[in-house]
Amino acid sequence: MNLLLDQLQPYPFEKLRDLYAGTSPPAGLSEIKLHIGEPQHPTPQFIKDVLIANLGGLASYPATNGSDDLRRAIAEWIAQRYGIPAPDIATQVLPVAGSREALFAIAQAVIERKHRQPVVISPNPFYQIYEGAALLAGARPFFLNTLPENDFRLDWARVPEEVWADCQLVYLCSPGNPTGKVMAQEEWQTLFELSDRHGFVIAADECYSEIYFDGDAPPLGGLQAARRIGRDDYRNLVMFSSLSKRSNVPGMRSGFVAGDAAILKKFWLYRTYHGCALSPPVQAASAAAWRDEAHVEENRRLYVEKFAQVTPIVARHLDTALPDAGFYLWADVSPTGLSDTEFTRRLRAQYNVTVLPGSYLGRDADGINPGRDFVRIALVAGLAECRTAGERIAAFCESL
Ligand SMILES: Cc1ncc(COP(=O)(O)O)c(C=O)c1O
Repeated sequence: MNLLLDQLQPYPFEKLRDLYAGTSPPAGLSEIKLHIGEPQHPTPQFIKDVLIANLGGLASYPATNGSDDLRRAIAEWIAQRYGIPAPDIATQVLPVAGSREALFAIAQAVIERKHRQPVVISPNPFYQIYEGAALLAGARPFFLNTLPENDFRLDWARVPEEVWADCQLVYLCSPGNPTGKVMAQEEWQTLFELSDRHGFVIAADECYSEIYFDGDAPPLGGLQAARRIGRDDYRNLVMFSSLSKRSNVPGMRSGFVAGDAAILKKFWLYRTYHGCALSPPVQAASAAAWRDEAHVEENRRLYVEKFAQVTPIVARHLDTALPDAGFYLWADVSPTGLSDTEFTRRLRAQYNVTVLPGSYLGRDADGINPGRDFVRIALVAGLAECRTAGERIAAFCESL
């Protein structure tokens, strides 16, 4: 067996199951699940209709790079969303079966195994796929803490020179999971300069880009940041986007990668062998979803309402605030005197609300696990349920 598999950590949800072992929630209270980042709003009917209308496509093998129509829909969406020229659909856009598989696969395609072990830089706390992708590609993850004292920004200056020297890939997540932080133009600029100097690839995970709270200020994207400073070839940059959260279709498995044509050419080659082309009906439904913004605006409206109602309730007892974007409240539980795991365990045992301990999303780096003291609350349920969850969290805190 591949010995590298032994380095993989259990997924946070497995750790959560172990945490809950031997306790049961109160019988009289319905369960409210806010631990997993799975959107629970309904899938728009028109997406289902297009999927069904294209079932005839099941009779053919799909191309790895998808249909021209899907790549055109994605390129037009990028142009309209970021106010930049549409990327070339022949070389700069690749549909993927959800951003998760692509975030994993990019490391396998990019990492060159050398005498000195390559390094992959990841934010900390982070989406666990980055770590697994790095390890299985034979690289060493380097974790860069995002901390409240630094307003959860990625501080590139904290990466030592010798780490940059071996770095081949940097993952970043903007808007961030779990912090909701959006990277600013200056931070992108610094990262681009570092990439020019050290030659690493930037994998920008932007799957939460369409969930934000100020309709006039959508989160800055990586391609947009590159264009603003004339990096029109997006050199060494690939961004990952997804329909899962934007269009409430996590089960459809559909997203895209866009950016540097030279990287995408190799990535396409890798993917031909990996065998992860999107089924033709999924491609058709995806093209329709990328071409419609009305359902995305409605989706956003629901999140705006939930965050407006729930954030102040939770913030009465925990240190939290409206994130820049995304659908997580990242809440410091230290005012309660409980650890993140104890808070999580007792909240479920007493109030049947499930959240995720922040330490499960982080690793020890620089002497701390930066997720410790935090819980991640995913406001993915309906408005009434999220509100009830907020009230139960407040009641729990008051009971302590
Ligand atoms: C930060 C982050 N990136 C990527 C994904 C994967 O999303 P999908 O594969 O559905 O596009 C998730 C899912 O929760 C996520 O939280």
